[in-house]
Amino acid sequence: MKRIGILTSGGDAPGMNAAIRAVTRKAIFHGVEVFGINYGFAGLVAGDIRRLEIADVGDKIQRGGTFLYSARYPEFATQEGQLKGIEQLKKFGIEGLVVIGGDGSYHGAMALTKHGFPAVAIPGTIDNDIPGTDFTIGFDTAINTVLESLDRIRDTATSHVRTFIIEVMGRDAGDIALWAGVAGGADEIIIPEHDFDMTSVAKRIKEGRDRGKKHCLIILAEGVMGGNEFAEQLSKHGDFHARVSILGHVVRGGSPTARDRVLASKFGGHAVDLLLEGKGGLCVGMLQNEVVSASIVETLEQGKHKPDLSLYALNKELSF
Ligand code: F6P
Repeated sequence: MKRIGILTSGGDAPGMNAAIRAVTRKAIFHGVEVFGINYGFAGLVAGDIRRLEIADVGDKIQRGGTFLYSARYPEFATQEGQLKGIEQLKKFGIEGLVVIGGDGSYHGAMALTKHGFPAVAIPGTIDNDIPGTDFTIGFDTAINTVLESLDRIRDTATSHVRTFIIEVMGRDAGDIALWAGVAGGADEIIIPEHDFDMTSVAKRIKEGRDRGKKHCLIILAEGVMGGNEFAEQLSKHGDFHARVSILGHVVRGGSPTARDRVLASKFGGHAVDLLLEGKGGLCVGMLQNEVVSASIVETLEQGKHKPDLSLYALNKELSF
């Protein structure tokens, strides 16, 4: 393989730049030319493609976002979009593609491989909701960003003896709320993967107050419901002076943590190894601290990523 392409797609995640750098540098190290595709699959279909040299990925490892830009592009689900994309890749002499992103990106990479074009997917999303890997690029940075906010909110919550509902992203997954909640000592973690009962939540807040507790932090995954709706429901069980803080896209930005940069570097390097061996239709992942690769089809067939619910149970024992 003499030329490979790389793109980032779906929601950006801190560490994507580190992964682009790893793919580019490793490929060039092995004598392979690299082409960056702007705006994900939308840019692929439009032919927004340029050569990446060593210097193009300098000063990028520490930057959040993706310097190749990203897009949500549902049109790539159609055969017409996919064939047009392959036509563009061939026009540039590109023989293999690395796709960095979440679920939609995996489907795009899988479709290309089904049409005979080798593509390797790297999990990049703050949501940590991709099967076949314990961690995705961006997740560690995201939970550290949430954690910083939780620590700050605790200060003001304590000063005013208030309950806070902190809504965090994650789409349908609760990993961000779960991990940041445990790390930040949240009193309640509300995630889509576990039932909750508002009466019990209210009862625990009251018990905490009776014991002299000055703050109550409830971290809520957006996949359950919005923070304002949650506050509304909670207010029917008592007056908790609840305030709502929606962290939103703040959690998607920022410089990646060391952990995300190393993960991105490992994934990027491994993706290039696979393409150089002529392998496509694979996704890379980290399972029990080992970098692994597996068929995208089989990985997606495994179904949804499952969060570590032992953390949920542990938090119940730590935050009563
Ligand atoms: O998938 C990443 C993510 O940030 C989700 O957590 C969130 O639900 C979604 O993207 C937001 O998407 P957009 O940036 O398109 O509004």
